[in-house]
Amino acid sequence: MTVAQIMENMLAFSEGNIHDIDHFLRVWSYAKTIGELEGLDRETQFILEAAAIVHDIACPLCREKYGNTNGKYQEREGEPMVRAFFADSDLSAEQIDRIAWLVAHHHTFNEIEGIDYQILVEADYIANASENGYDRKNIENFMARFMKTDSDVRLTKAVFCL
Ligand SMILES: [Fe+2]
Repeated sequence: MTVAQIMENMLAFSEGNIHDIDHFLRVWSYAKTIGELEGLDRETQFILEAAAIVHDIACPLCREKYGNTNGKYQEREGEPMVRAFFADSDLSAEQIDRIAWLVAHHHTFNEIEGIDYQILVEADYIANASENGYDRKNIENFMARFMKTDSDVRLTKAVFCL
């Protein structure tokens, strides 16, 4: 399964929810760009891009079930949904495990391990900051505390004119 096929399936899965579609397209494009700028190997880049596309897969369910998209609910509900999403794919069990694990941790910033996890969190932050109009202080604080890749710091500075 290619990244494009994952994208096509996720677009279909989103059933016309343009808000969610715009968000994951944005996160995926930042993640892809940062991953390539950081020189990730092919496999890690693939896992990162797949995780970026499906990272908010649980949002519609969480809105319905809990009335909000609180990060902890998303992490809990997201993992089995990712497994179901890739159940009929040709991805290996190891690949699905890693993507599901990333989705199940993408709102947890204090135990980031692995460059795919790091970049997913960074890409999601840039997208959220632009969509929700985070102020300069919030962005600078996140940059200082959680951004580790040089590429992400450069992109964030460029996007927000810092
Ligand atoms: Fe997100």
